Amino acid sequence: MKERELIELARKVLKNSYSPYSKVEVAAVLLTKDGKVFTGANIENASYGLSICAERAAVFQAVTNGYRDFSKIVICSNLIKPILPCGACCQVLFEFSPQIKIITMNKNGIKETFNLKEVFPRGFRLTK
Ligand code: THU
Repeated sequence: MKERELIELARKVLKNSYSPYSKVEVAAVLLTKDGKVFTGANIENASYGLSICAERAAVFQAVTNGYRDFSKIVICSNLIKPILPCGACCQVLFEFSPQIKIITMNKNGIKETFNLKEVFPRGFRLTK
C-alpha cells in the first residue's frame, strides 16, 4: 500500500475510535515489512486505566496474526497538533521494530515524519 492509501485508511479507522471520555480520537495503521496492513483505534473504558491507545491496538492485531516486523506506522487524530505515540506505545513499537518510521497527521492532514529512534532513543531491552 502506498503512503497516500495508508493515510486514507487511517482517516477511515478514526471513525471507529471509541473515546467518549477524552473525546480524543486516534487511529493507527501499521505496515509490516512484507506489505501487510493492520489497523487500530483507541478504545476507552469507564474504568479509565483500561483504555488502550490506537498504536498498541494495531501492534497487538499484527502480532496476534503472526507479524512482528514493521516498517511504518501512520497515526492520525482529531487534534490540531500531530500526535506522537505515548511512552507505552513507543516501548511496544521498540520491542518489535526499533527502526520503524512514524508518520503522524493532525485533523487537517498536516503531516510530520519521525523515526522511533528520534522520539524514543533508548528503549528498554532485557539483555542477560
Ligand atoms: N491516545 C492514543 O490512542 N495514542 C496516543 O499516541 C496518545 C493517546 C489515546 C488514549 C486516550 O484514549 C486518548 O488518546 C487521550 O489520551
